[in-house]
Amino acid sequence: MIRVNELTKDYGSRRALHGLTFEAQQGEVVGFLGPNGAGKTTTMRILTSYMPPTSGEAIVAGYDVVSESLEVRKRVGYLPETVPLYTDMVVFDYLKFMADLRHLPDAEERVGETLEMVGMVDRANGYIGSLSKGMRQRIGLAQALIHRPEVLILDEPTIGLDPSQVVEIRNLIREIGKERTVLLSTHILSEAQQVCDRVIIINKGNIVVEDTPENLQAHLVGAERVVLRVRGEVDDLAVKVGKIKGVQNAKSNPDGTLEFQFLPAQDVRPQVARAVVESGYDLLEMRPLGLSLEEIFLELTKEEQPAKKKKAHS
Ligand SMILES: Nc1ncnc2c1ncn2[C@@H]1O[C@H](COP(=O)(O)OP(=O)(O)O)[C@@H](O)[C@H]1O
Ligand SMILES: [Mg+2]
Repeated sequence: MIRVNELTKDYGSRRALHGLTFEAQQGEVVGFLGPNGAGKTTTMRILTSYMPPTSGEAIVAGYDVVSESLEVRKRVGYLPETVPLYTDMVVFDYLKFMADLRHLPDAEERVGETLEMVGMVDRANGYIGSLSKGMRQRIGLAQALIHRPEVLILDEPTIGLDPSQVVEIRNLIREIGKERTVLLSTHILSEAQQVCDRVIIINKGNIVVEDTPENLQAHLVGAERVVLRVRGEVDDLAVKVGKIKGVQNAKSNPDGTLEFQFLPAQDVRPQVARAVVESGYDLLEMRPLGLSLEEIFLELTKEEQPAKKKKAHS
């Protein structure tokens, strides 16, 4: 369990976190999603007792990250943004060393079990320096899991991995997350969508929105979007459709389809269908299009533009 209340962090005179408040429960994988500089790593360092907040409170696994940092460290596993792995150490020895640092009983057995959890048993005797990036990330996960923490904090766990490694690590996180509290940061939307039960979007030190990936997707920003497919060229049809009252942003797409928007209170689909047929086209398909998470994300995190004159396209 993680409970964060009005967390702020200043670096000198710069405020990196502006009062974050959120929770994550056991058995939940929560995605911390935001562009570079949003404050993800800062928040995670506070939650792992690496550094104190400027103000506000964070309770992790039942303990305060400032006044009970030792208790927090016992119960939290942390995969930092860049894992400081000793490349000239053998995998098994490295994990044994991490287990000993934590004074874990039956350290060798524990290392063996952990290697199994991350699917690296056959690499136990290899040097860390000889491992691929994906395998090193697994070892990073293994050191984060060595003490079987209640809470797992993973800072951009798939960054720099190739696509097949990404899939493996995501599956592993999902599995691990079943009985723990996992907070993972990412700047990749589809990742949050695939791995997380809940997504917290953060931008410039503020939480912008917090919801399930499904709800975020359904959360249409005003207008409904429709795609239609007809037989033949649609170029001049877009102009025609665009003139119908209530139709917004009609345009033809590179794939030969045509799309437009309308306000829910003003369903113009029948008028559009009629116009298409009356113009001599066969209407093959007309379907609603949800906004992609990608678009919602851009919308939510875009810069507030000062009222400037728009630059015209040349
Ligand atoms: N050690 C630091 N000293 C000064 N500013 C920092 C430091 N670490 C991060 N920042 C600033 O705080 C903001 C949040 O950074 P960070 O938490 O690393 O974001 P993210 O992990 O989302 O990319 C950024 O503006 C960054 O420049
Ligand atoms: Mg970061």
